[in-house]
Amino acid sequence: MNINGSFAAAKPVCASVQHDRTVWLKGGEHKCQMPPRTPTGRIWRIVLLGAPGVGKGTQAEMLCQCLGTCHLSTGDVFRAAKSCSGSDLSPAMQNALVYMKRGDLVPDETVLDMISERLRCLNCSGGFLLDGFPRTVAQAKALEKLLDSQDIRLSAVFDYELPIEQIVARLSGRRTCAGCKSVYHVATRPPKVDDVCDHCGGKLIQREDDRPESVKVRMEAYQKSTKPLIDFYKLRGLLVTIAANGSPEEIYGRTRQLALED
Ligand code: AP5
Repeated sequence: MNINGSFAAAKPVCASVQHDRTVWLKGGEHKCQMPPRTPTGRIWRIVLLGAPGVGKGTQAEMLCQCLGTCHLSTGDVFRAAKSCSGSDLSPAMQNALVYMKRGDLVPDETVLDMISERLRCLNCSGGFLLDGFPRTVAQAKALEKLLDSQDIRLSAVFDYELPIEQIVARLSGRRTCAGCKSVYHVATRPPKVDDVCDHCGGKLIQREDDRPESVKVRMEAYQKSTKPLIDFYKLRGLLVTIAANGSPEEIYGRTRQLALED
C-alpha cells in the first residue's frame, strides 16, 4: 500500500493508557509493576520503520495509547543504560553506547542479545509496537525466527516516509524528557512550560546524537542498513507505507485510515 493523499486531522480517541516498561527498559529478572491492559479487540504486533527523526517515537506514543500496546524502543533501552553507572554495564553495553553517541548502529550481536533478554515483552498479552528494531536485514531475519519459535505473527510494518530536509528540521528542534522519555519539539510540539515535561514534570533535554555530525552518520546508516527492510517486509505482505508530512495528528489519522480501520 502506498498512499500520499491528504487526510483530515484526527486526535487519538482512545482513553489514556499508562504503560509500565520496566521489563523492556531494564531486562533480566525485572518485572512490570502494572499488568498490561487486557485487550478487548485485536492484539496488535507492529514494527515501525523510517529514517531517524521521521517521527516514529511520536506516532508510537499516540498508537500505544489507542491500541494498548507497549512501546518497545531499542534506542530507549540504550539511553536508559546510559544513565546507569559504568560499573553496572556489561562491556558489550558500554561498547554500544560509544556507537550510539557517534550515530552508528550498535552491532547486531549486542542488539540481538538485548532482545533475547526481553523475550517476555514480545509475548506480552497486550501486544507490542517495536520502534528502532529491526534495523538491519540480519536483525529482521533474527526477529522472524524468534517470533516463529514463539508462534507469534506480526500484524503489520508501518514505514513512515519524509524528505530528508524536513527530517533534519524535526531532529534539530527535538527535546526529550529525561524522566519519562516523552518527545517534544521546540516549534511544532512545545511543552506547556519551557523545558518541563507536561506528563511527569521532568527536565527536557537535547539528545547527544541530535548533533549535526551524528545526524549525518545516522542518515547514512539508515540508507545503507535499514532501508533494505522496506523490500524485506514488502515481500512478506506486511508493509504499509505512510506519508509522514503534516502534523503528528494528521499522520496518526492517516495511519489509522490506512492500517487500523476495517
Ligand atoms: P533510536 O532511538 O531508535 O533513534 P532513531 O531511529 O534515530 O529515531 P529517533 O528517535 O531519532 O526519531 P523518531 O523517528 O522516533 O522521531 P521523533 O518522534 O522523536 O536509536 C538511537 C540510536 O540507538 C541509533 O542511532 C543506534 O546507535 C542505536 N540503536 C537503536 N536501535 C538499534 C538497532 N536495532 N540496531 C542498531 N543500533 C540501534 O520525532 C523527531 C522530532 O520531530 C521530535 O522533536 C518531534 O516532536 C518532532 N515531530 C514528530 N512528528 C512531527 C510532525 N509530524 N511535524 C513536526 N514535528 C514532528
